[in-house]
Amino acid sequence: MISYKDLDEDVLNHVNRVVRDFRPLAFPRDFGFDGFDSQDVIRYFTDASQFGLSLRRDTGKGILYGCGHASLRRQFLNGLSAHWRCRIVLPKLQALDWCSVFARVDFSGDISELVDVRDIGMGNSVYWLKVIFKNGKMGEFVLKEKSIRSQVFYVDVLKVLGWRYFETAVVSLKSGDWELSQYVLGQNLNAYISSHVTIANWIVPLAQRAALGDMIGMGDRHVENYVCPGDDLVAVDVSYMFWPDNEDWTLRYISGGVYELNALSRFQLDAHLLETYLGEFWRSYELTLGRIYEHKDAILRMIAKHFPDAAMPSSFFEARINDPSAYLNQMKPRVMTAFWEALRRHRYKLALVQLVNDDPEMLVDHPWLKMYYLADRDRPSAFLHAESRMPELFPLIQERARTKSGFELGFFELAPQLEQLKRTLL
Ligand SMILES: Nc1ncnc2c1ncn2[C@@H]1O[C@H](COP(=O)(O)OP(=O)(O)OP(=O)(O)O)[C@@H](O)[C@H]1O
Ligand SMILES: [Mg+2]
Repeated sequence: MISYKDLDEDVLNHVNRVVRDFRPLAFPRDFGFDGFDSQDVIRYFTDASQFGLSLRRDTGKGILYGCGHASLRRQFLNGLSAHWRCRIVLPKLQALDWCSVFARVDFSGDISELVDVRDIGMGNSVYWLKVIFKNGKMGEFVLKEKSIRSQVFYVDVLKVLGWRYFETAVVSLKSGDWELSQYVLGQNLNAYISSHVTIANWIVPLAQRAALGDMIGMGDRHVENYVCPGDDLVAVDVSYMFWPDNEDWTLRYISGGVYELNALSRFQLDAHLLETYLGEFWRSYELTLGRIYEHKDAILRMIAKHFPDAAMPSSFFEARINDPSAYLNQMKPRVMTAFWEALRRHRYKLALVQLVNDDPEMLVDHPWLKMYYLADRDRPSAFLHAESRMPELFPLIQERARTKSGFELGFFELAPQLEQLKRTLL
């Protein structure tokens, strides 16, 4: 347990600095995405019963955050020394009874000591923990506040398919529900894509994960929910599963540029290369449907084990996997239409960046534009969900880009080679 009096001047100065740095990324009061104030952060540091620190967003309004928001939120903890990080987080772990969490998960023993901790979450705190066990072994784990058990089911399916997996479990205690997982060493897919010139080796794993995700109705498969260990891919934030209208959500997410297939948009400047990789993606997707079909019975057994009281998950899966070719023939054109829409939105993203470079003040009167500007920065996404929530943004950007920054109308259309490829493939 630490109290306000224990926090030294360096810690308090650090908090004030990060609060100040966050301010330009916050929004007007009525928008629903506020900055932090120092008191909130100090309460988080000193209240052992408060597990994490969340971005201050109104839920249900569809407000998106950017990598910059997440990074500064994490910075409150991660910018401190390991000594302070452990001093702040250890009381929280003790309050939730972390020893019981580890004891109930069979990949670990009794904990002896917390060696280091970092917040690796996006919107909320998710902790990377480095611990020593009583038997002298050291381990790295990820602890989240989470009651949904879909990740555990997903990992069991990965085992059935012989794909890379990591051990994970959800433990329910008086203090809440906690998901404890092995730490997968690697960057998340977004960080990986941004920092590597080629992602050719990833086309097959991307297509495999997309095919599996579609068969089990898995949502929220955006690039920050995959981690890249070596040259493989694992989903680490599995929640939505067997979602009845999952295909509609998948198309919306692809239109917004954030799903597995969207990783290929980086080849848009070379239509020939894009065509090659799209071909590889869909070949792997089809092969994967075949592989999932071969393991259908084992997956159905997993569904029965994890969802014993519901008939819907198995009927959802069977409705799709029983006729893989029909599924593919029906979905592929819809998915490709969404993919081209993502490339079209990418043009609007480029235009918005240019407009802001020319006149940063323009965002002051347009909080939704500011939201997308910040949310899409350092990510492949472009205007996720804008089609239903803010369709007027597209004409607004087009109009301003033409009148204020001298853009030609043609700028907002796909390049002629891409138009041609689109016609060939549709
Ligand atoms: N088991 C793991 N191994 C390695 N990295 C992980 C693991 N779990 C999560 N991460 C990293 O932490 C990040 C955040 O985790 P996660 O996606 O589960 O939470 P979140 O997105 O912050 O939660 P929310 O969706 O509630 O905002 C991931 O993008 C990933 O980089
Ligand atoms: Mg996530």
